Amino acid sequence: MYDLLILGGGPAGYLAAERAAQSGLKAAVFEKSNIGGVCLNEGCIPSKALLYSAKIYHNAAHGEKYGVKVENAFLDHKYVISRKKKVVEMLTGGIRAKLKKLGASLISAEGIIKGRSLEGFVIAAGGKEYVGKFLLIATGSVSVIPPIEGLKESLNTGFALTNREILELKQVPGELAIIGGGVIGLEMANYYCAAGSKVTVIEMLDHIGGNVDRDISKNLQLSLEKIGVKFLLSSKVTKISGRQVTFEKNGKEQAIKADKVLLSIGRKPFTEGIGLENIGVYTERGRIITDEMCRTNVAGAYAAGDVNGVSMLAHTAYREAEVAVNNILGKKDYVDYDAIPAVIYTNPEVASVGLTEEAARARGISVKAAKLSMNYSGRYAAENEGGDGFIKLVADAEGGALLGCHMVGNYSSEFIVAASMMVQMRMRIADIKKIVFPHPTVSEIIREAIFELQ
Ligand code: NAI
Repeated sequence: MYDLLILGGGPAGYLAAERAAQSGLKAAVFEKSNIGGVCLNEGCIPSKALLYSAKIYHNAAHGEKYGVKVENAFLDHKYVISRKKKVVEMLTGGIRAKLKKLGASLISAEGIIKGRSLEGFVIAAGGKEYVGKFLLIATGSVSVIPPIEGLKESLNTGFALTNREILELKQVPGELAIIGGGVIGLEMANYYCAAGSKVTVIEMLDHIGGNVDRDISKNLQLSLEKIGVKFLLSSKVTKISGRQVTFEKNGKEQAIKADKVLLSIGRKPFTEGIGLENIGVYTERGRIITDEMCRTNVAGAYAAGDVNGVSMLAHTAYREAEVAVNNILGKKDYVDYDAIPAVIYTNPEVASVGLTEEAARARGISVKAAKLSMNYSGRYAAENEGGDGFIKLVADAEGGALLGCHMVGNYSSEFIVAASMMVQMRMRIADIKKIVFPHPTVSEIIREAIFELQ
């Protein structure tokens, strides 16, 4: 008999198990694959290991801007992949050890919700049944596989890849076509371009990066074009055959050749076959419906992470897991979805939180905005020869609170949290002006831009 049964051992699941155990609950987490989920095994972390190698390579190959000359710099892809494996193993090993130390059970089997008994929720896994007073569903998401002609066959033959296989490629493809210019597509375009592929990103919209600020999207596109990535915008992929990717642009069919194709057109919550119907959990187009306390419609059953389809980011999953556990413990807690930072870990990085100017205006909020070159930060100027990054701030013209911060430029991923805190705490510009930032850091750009808000 457990206090909490957790289905899925990704960021939401393993963190919930840790927090529950730390608070004295008897928790068990069921994981059919590797602990750590997509994020640790085939997403956030492995891609960051690859992208760091791309950055080091870029700095070595273009070091002359800083007076550093390196001859014959090259990126050893096989080594990069093996280092990535080492990083992933170290981190997943760390989670296993922490769960053990805290006394949370890790059950390495597929768990299926069987129903409810008088004592609580029943999960079957590995030929046994487990009962828990509370349930947390954290089964994550899977890649969207759209009905593109020839796609399924191409995935079977290994010509087309998802985020999982692209991080395991033994050889760098000569020509890599990427379907979708969202986060995965852009990060992998950056890495494989550095590794030597001729990369073409085919994006259905007229811009890359989804909802990011349009000026930032253009800036990032130009930066990636400078290293050799080619973009085909307003182009919808319709067919994959042989070694060809066919797309429609302005009503006309065109095709490009490729050695490999990456499919990165989004992910969808994973809810099939886990037994939701046995306890009557409501879903909507495959996602579990939750409120800001991460409750489902079934008393005692919670859902956190990609499976609720709200924000689909690992850091949101962490917070949702904590909120679910706190509510289980009787401590009322809510997720503030207005202050969730988003990052694209390309070179340059893109980091943002809160509303863009357009989004704020669309909500009828009267705003004041400021845009400033990152070169106003001495540290940025010293470390980014020829850099053209910038920051945009959006504030409520009436109440004076900061509503959003949007940046393109390196290190922005590391200090966006400062802006997140300001947005989350509904801080007013007058109060933010009193915060002391360390000098010289790129983070000072927030302070500089705050004083530009008129
Ligand atoms: P995405 O939703 O970010 O981007 C998909 C793109 O594909 C969109 O721009 C869409 O317009 C385009 N598209 C859709 N169908 C198309 C077609 N037939 N032809 C051409 N373009 C088409 O999805 P992505 O990149 O697969 O990422 C999935 C999830 O992984 C995201 O929800 C994201 O939250 C998460 N992720 C987050 C990262 C981060 O925080 N840095 C990194 C990687 C993934």
